[in-house]
Amino acid sequence: EADLESKLPLKGKKILITAGPTYEAIDPVRFIGNHSSGKMGFDIANSAAALGATVFLVAGPTTLQVKQPSIQVINVTSAQQMYDACHVYFEQVDVAIAAAAVADYRPKTVATQKIKKAADNLVIELEKTKDILASLGAIKKKQFLIGFALETENEIENAKAKIQKKNLDLIVLNSLQDLGAGFKQLTNKVTFIDKNYTIEPMALKSKEAVAEDILNKVIDHFR
Ligand code: CTP
Ligand code: CA
Repeated sequence: EADLESKLPLKGKKILITAGPTYEAIDPVRFIGNHSSGKMGFDIANSAAALGATVFLVAGPTTLQVKQPSIQVINVTSAQQMYDACHVYFEQVDVAIAAAAVADYRPKTVATQKIKKAADNLVIELEKTKDILASLGAIKKKQFLIGFALETENEIENAKAKIQKKNLDLIVLNSLQDLGAGFKQLTNKVTFIDKNYTIEPMALKSKEAVAEDILNKVIDHFR
């Protein structure tokens, strides 16, 4: 029993994870997206399942596949679909980790027909999407809530503000300034900041190793 617990420290815990980009439709054949590969979120999902957790992975468009068959994958395309899927599962989970690169804006109207090439300039009006993580923070009860922050300036201050604004327990700050870290890379240089503003800079390491570090924070929380 004790042995099983040490090998499967997240057994009995339910974890909601978001991953990948979102695609926001412009017309039937075009969208606004981003370069997120989804790898960080998929690595967290695989590790969490390997540690015994029940995992719900809400994934935007990606070619990645989960390695752990127990993971329940909910495939979505847009930020609104990701929002809806997260709210289906959030109430029952113990932990939520928002690793998705959600579009901040989407076209205000989606053209029903393919937009034809005509004038020299085309303006597409955008409107804000819902902040999924903030919406979870606003309704959280006992859930341990983890977000990511991508910053290019005033990194620590901006990340702290996100902890506050989204009611997070922990934020994983991505340092793009460090070579080799970020989108499309296999490595990540992150800094953990918890809700008490304790700052813990981590070494540059593989996304798999960063996933392990994040899940160790989750394990620590339940210890
Ligand atoms: N996030 C989300 N829903 C959104 C936007 C962001 O759930 N509509 C989540 C991301 O998954 C991430 C965190 O919020 O965990 C921070 O994302 P980030 O883009 O760094 O911050 P924003 O709040 O969108 O602010 P900005 O892009 O202006 O820095
Ligand atoms: Ca954003």
